[in-house]
Amino acid sequence: MRVLFVTPECFPLVKTGGLADVSAALPAALTRIGVDVRLLLPGYPAVLDGLSNAHEVGDLITDLPGTERARLLLGHMPDGTLAYALDAPALYARPGNPYLGPDGKDWPDNAQRFAALSWAAAGFAAHESYDPWWRPDVIHGHDWQTGLMPAYLRVRPDRFGGPFRPGTVMTIHNIAYQGQFSPHLLGEVQLPASCYAMDGVEYYGGLGYLKAGCWYADRLTTVSHTYAHEIQTDEQGMGLQGLLSYRTHDLSGIVNGVDYGIWDPAADPHIVARYSPENPSGKAACKTDLQAAFGLEPRPDRPLAGIISRLTWHKGLDMVLENAAAWVAAGGQLAVLGTGEPWMEGGFRHLADWYPGSVGVRIGYDEALSHRIQAGSDLLLVPSRSEPCGLTQMYAMKYGTLPLVRRTGGLADTVIDATPAALNDGVATGFAFMNATGQELGFALRRAMSIYRKPELWNAMRTRAMGRDFGWERPAREYLELYEGIQ
Ligand code: ADP
Ligand code: GLC
Repeated sequence: MRVLFVTPECFPLVKTGGLADVSAALPAALTRIGVDVRLLLPGYPAVLDGLSNAHEVGDLITDLPGTERARLLLGHMPDGTLAYALDAPALYARPGNPYLGPDGKDWPDNAQRFAALSWAAAGFAAHESYDPWWRPDVIHGHDWQTGLMPAYLRVRPDRFGGPFRPGTVMTIHNIAYQGQFSPHLLGEVQLPASCYAMDGVEYYGGLGYLKAGCWYADRLTTVSHTYAHEIQTDEQGMGLQGLLSYRTHDLSGIVNGVDYGIWDPAADPHIVARYSPENPSGKAACKTDLQAAFGLEPRPDRPLAGIISRLTWHKGLDMVLENAAAWVAAGGQLAVLGTGEPWMEGGFRHLADWYPGSVGVRIGYDEALSHRIQAGSDLLLVPSRSEPCGLTQMYAMKYGTLPLVRRTGGLADTVIDATPAALNDGVATGFAFMNATGQELGFALRRAMSIYRKPELWNAMRTRAMGRDFGWERPAREYLELYEGIQ
């Protein structure tokens, strides 16, 4: 089974969120169970610099949307996975964030940039394949940036009709990001006018890339069972609920995993002391280290809540702003690492000014610091309004940091709330609340605080959370089964 894994970001070369972690760990896990997986990435500077032994394959590509010419390179990711890079300088030779320019706004040619990525992916199926030496059985695209790939394969048989057609899978990592563009671009991205229809790429009067992927791909997946259900509802379907309900038998939820090669307190190079469920004592030193890094009082007895997040509305962190005063008054501390919308960044900065010694905030993106927060915190707050899967709550459990989450998407699928019954049965691994209100989050924080004050109960939950296995082997097998079911 050969799979081309097409993604706009991949750890450790380009990362804006969880998709990058998944794009690194899932191909590696698939490789371990015998799948021949190769990545296809846009040739951003970080990708061209980061691939080792890169060499050119196939001929110069001269028919990509949005650019005159591009090369396809094949090299190794740092973990050894083979990856193609689409080297199209006019589209990708820009430093920094893969989607946003220096003004913080979307690059004005994102439609062309990601049409080109999809076009290059489809090119592997063509009679004159971009790489004549390696033909995928399945092309697996991720998020709107790859949504046109299945469309090209269906509506441009003139260009991409080959000796066989690979199966296509589209994974929705977040339905809130749609890739919606002006219909005037249809010709430029080389789609026929006939596919601009409800039964095609049209999405509320625009050209919808995610919509296109959801319409044309053979199979659809998303990253948790609960989210697979949620995106078929009016509340969370973002206008695609009708289509997704219609395709419900082609849609499945596969919960993401954790790469324990990177997220494991027993072997983490970023933290001051290593620890494990058998020998958890190093966690105390990690807490002291974190308190020092964030200018917090070095008090082992104060429960320390961490946040590692994009600061956007859907992450629900405004509800934390609402509860911070009460949390601090009750003895809690807060360490926040994040970047995002200015109003939310400002809100957290103010908190740090108001509560020195109790609240510390770092605005920015810092991979190493994120590990120190996972290790040094007692609780990790993930109160998302919507969360397709969420990875940080699973990382937290491995680090013995109890997640406090809203019961939505993958958070609902991975965290077992400390209800009296769950505590009694010895299954609780965190805290969850239902409605996205500051009041309910506040109540969950008070419950967490009261259990923190009962060390026996807290330590039992902590040990249990550390023992949960969210490894990639199970999800990788589910993807393989899905790939095999297409042909
Ligand atoms: P999303 O993809 O919606 O942002 P996930 O929980 O799936 O949410 O993944 C977020 C990933 O990004 C995690 O690996 C998390 O540690 C990381 N992350 C988020 N914000 C930061 C930050 N400011 N600095 C470092 N890592 C971050
Ligand atoms: C998206 C989602 C997040 C998920 C990640 C990886 O960024 O917002 O919930 O964990 O993709 O699938």
